[in-house]
Amino acid sequence: MSVIRETQLNLRSDDRGSLVAVEGMVDLPFEIKRVYYIFGSKPASRRGCHAHYHLRQMAICLAGSCRFLMDDGDERVEHVLDRSTTGLLIEPMVWHEMDSFSPDCVLLLLASARYDRSDYIHHYDQFIELTHMKSRTLELVA
Ligand code: TYD
Repeated sequence: MSVIRETQLNLRSDDRGSLVAVEGMVDLPFEIKRVYYIFGSKPASRRGCHAHYHLRQMAICLAGSCRFLMDDGDERVEHVLDRSTTGLLIEPMVWHEMDSFSPDCVLLLLASARYDRSDYIHHYDQFIELTHMKSRTLELVA
């Protein structure tokens, strides 16, 4: 499966404007426990630069654009988010970095759990070691 997993969200537009609703277990595969958003990031800033052991997230770029680097240890892909109707799923054990923020970028993150510092993997070397350990274990049980 590709490291880039996008969902097209349902846009409800009429002559008053547009609305997008996102429901847990309907528009994304988890219940939403936490919402945070990132804005005012400088174009040269780099955010993220970590993976999570358990957390599942969906990123939606509500305004402007930014670039994601997504890496599951096998595949490493750069991907631009620039639509408020596209959700990018960030699964556990996916290293992600964000950069190239447009000045008007507002990036919304919907998360499956409350903030937990112990769920973060901050070192890329450790992340690669863990993903390789996981694939070796899967090979052994196959
Ligand atoms: P940080 O993890 O550096 O953000 P990013 O992943 O975009 O690089 O978070 C910045 C600060 O915000 C840091 O002090 C932790 C805090 N924070 C919370 O308190 N709650 C949250 O849900 C998140 C994501 C971060």
